[in-house]
Amino acid sequence: MNRSHVLFELAWILPSIAIPTGMLVALLVTAFGMGIHVPGHAGRVDPRTLEQTPPFNAPGITQVAPGRYQAVILVKTWSFTPNEIRVPVGSEVTFIASSQDVIHGFRIHGTNVNMMIIPGQISRATARFTRPGEYLFVCHEYCGTGHHLMSGKVIVQG
Ligand code: CUA
Repeated sequence: MNRSHVLFELAWILPSIAIPTGMLVALLVTAFGMGIHVPGHAGRVDPRTLEQTPPFNAPGITQVAPGRYQAVILVKTWSFTPNEIRVPVGSEVTFIASSQDVIHGFRIHGTNVNMMIIPGQISRATARFTRPGEYLFVCHEYCGTGHHLMSGKVIVQG
């Protein structure tokens, strides 16, 4: 091989190393340095024993710090438990949900919370409620004849 061949090869080989390396670095920086990650997935759980498995054995809202709450929601055909969540205005609420049967959805109107609730998987999303009012949440994945009945609300008290 003469010199120009070597340069030609290098011109292909170096970017093919540098580009994936750069993407990996960007991924690591955003995932670990900036806390950006795919919404939702926060662990696994056996859907057959979901109702007996903490925290889903005690669904509901608990205060975890001043102004911060955790809402554990048990999802099944065709209900959310609980379907009414009350928090004071200004609260930051982390929703933790899982399904014990089929795929459902969980979307809270007026917030950025929008996740799939997949059996076997724990979904998690956080929202801050800065204005008082009622925020409807619905199942937005078709899950059978009672799909349209799956709803609830977050009541933010001023
Ligand atoms: Cu649950 Cu649609």
